[in-house]
Amino acid sequence: MDSTQVNKGMAAILVAGIAYFLSGWIGATLVHDIKPEHEVLKIEGAAPATATSAPEKAEPLPPIAPLLAKADVVAGESTAKKLCVSCHTFNDGGKAGVGPNLYGAVGSARGHMEGFNYSAAIKGKPGNWSYDDLNAWLAKPAAFAPGTRMAAFAGIKSAEQRADVIAYLRTLSKTPVPLP
Ligand code: HEC
Repeated sequence: MDSTQVNKGMAAILVAGIAYFLSGWIGATLVHDIKPEHEVLKIEGAAPATATSAPEKAEPLPPIAPLLAKADVVAGESTAKKLCVSCHTFNDGGKAGVGPNLYGAVGSARGHMEGFNYSAAIKGKPGNWSYDDLNAWLAKPAAFAPGTRMAAFAGIKSAEQRADVIAYLRTLSKTPVPLP
């Protein structure tokens, strides 16, 4: 090995060392370890979170009737079996889960399942499950009945999909409520 090769080797090591040092220094200069001045996440109560997000007010939705008229029951059933089965059963006489059995819910009084422990939000909202109520409920349960235990379900954004699901729920009855 002649001396130029040794020198090249030394130079390579030196350059590597400098590069290592420099990258560390640049990294430390660019990325500061900044601590937030105040907590970003406040856990107590849900108020601060809702203050920044969209208002909780239930916006009146357009009537669901036109969409119900062309709703797809089969699509509604498959959506319901994806989104609702974790909490609901649909068969006649089915057991309650996290939520009540939904057979015969369309058109009946709110809190229709005998023996199910409904929240005050549902018990305090008298009336029957009309098609438009169901539409608003499925769009955003927490807005339709603030304090409901179905609030864990965020809702179905698409009006078409809601119509399909409602059309399917309608079939869960010996005497389905006539379409509007
Ligand atoms: C995270 C669980 C959960 C999911 C998912 C869920 N629900 Fe519910 N649902 C509930 C609970 C709990 C109640 C009772 C609400 C209360 O008492 O406040 C309820 C109540 C209802 C009611 C009122 C029934 C009555 O007897 O008054 C309807 C209708 C309903 N759900 C439909 C649906 C549909 C349709 C879906 C799917 C698109 C769905 N839910 C998804 C938990 C859920």
